[in-house]
Amino acid sequence: MEAYNQAITEIIRQRFSCRNYDPRPVEPGLRDQLSKVLAASSTGPLGTRMRFELVSAGKDDSAALKGMGTYGFIKGAGGFIIGAVDQGENNMEDYGYLLERAILFATDIGLGTCWLGGTFKKSRFSQKISLKETEILPAVAAVGYVADKPRWFDSFIRRRAGSDNRLPWDELFFDGTFRTALSVDSSGTFATPLEMVRLGPSASNKQPWRVIRDGTKWHFYLQRTSGYGNRNTTLFKLADMQRIDMGIAMCHFELTVREMGLSGEWIHSEQGIEKPDELTEYIITWQQKD
Ligand SMILES: Cc1cc2nc3c(=O)[nH]c(=O)nc-3n(C[C@H](O)[C@H](O)[C@H](O)COP(=O)(O)O)c2cc1C
Repeated sequence: MEAYNQAITEIIRQRFSCRNYDPRPVEPGLRDQLSKVLAASSTGPLGTRMRFELVSAGKDDSAALKGMGTYGFIKGAGGFIIGAVDQGENNMEDYGYLLERAILFATDIGLGTCWLGGTFKKSRFSQKISLKETEILPAVAAVGYVADKPRWFDSFIRRRAGSDNRLPWDELFFDGTFRTALSVDSSGTFATPLEMVRLGPSASNKQPWRVIRDGTKWHFYLQRTSGYGNRNTTLFKLADMQRIDMGIAMCHFELTVREMGLSGEWIHSEQGIEKPDELTEYIITWQQKD
């Protein structure tokens, strides 16, 4: 994986959903760097195989996006990152992880990005990546130059304000049981990785990630938004966006932990911890190694 110029915590703080781009194509040097990262993104942390491509935006792409049940209008994106993922138990988490890692790289080299979920089945996007029958195209990301410097600056300020647009710690992070909130103070060195989870993007900003500390294990749970998954996956035939959100959380957590020089690994280790409700499901555990 390419090294970042800035600290990962800075990059995570800088990223925001850019919906207004300067339409000029991304310059070849930056495209190459991003394409290299995408080429190295072929296996997710939980083992799913996938492939990504960076494509230039065509004039019909905004129209295609509008017709796909995506919310929010994307103006003038110079390109899109499109991915195709195989079937598999944790494929959406893996997809979220790898695409977010590429998005953070794009942010680091000065590009604006925006995650776009939706059904791309019959769209130009599946054609562009020559989607195979066995593959799924769960979401794409718009990439390009942020509309102009003052706006970038504006957005950065807004983004700072936007980070207050996140659930408080006591609704996201827990200690041993879901009845006990984990405070910043008692989470020690893990306060920063958890804060980076909290600042992550999520579909409709629903922030479905929950993390519970259990000794040296950090269990990641998905607390589904009532009605959201069912309606979207059945009615609109969308991929499971909230599992993508979990992969994004894993990415922010792991990159931060590793940058801090701590080691560990993802394992399946559900401990039978009582869940707060039926919408909450266990996903994965980070096992600390030191
Ligand atoms: C999986 C996923 C799908 C998303 N889909 C869309 C979308 O279709 N349209 C859109 O405008 N934003 C989309 N977003 C962006 C979120 O709305 C945004 O991340 C969230 O509101 C937080 O704002 P921020 O990214 O500026 O921090 C998506 C985000 C994620 C993670």
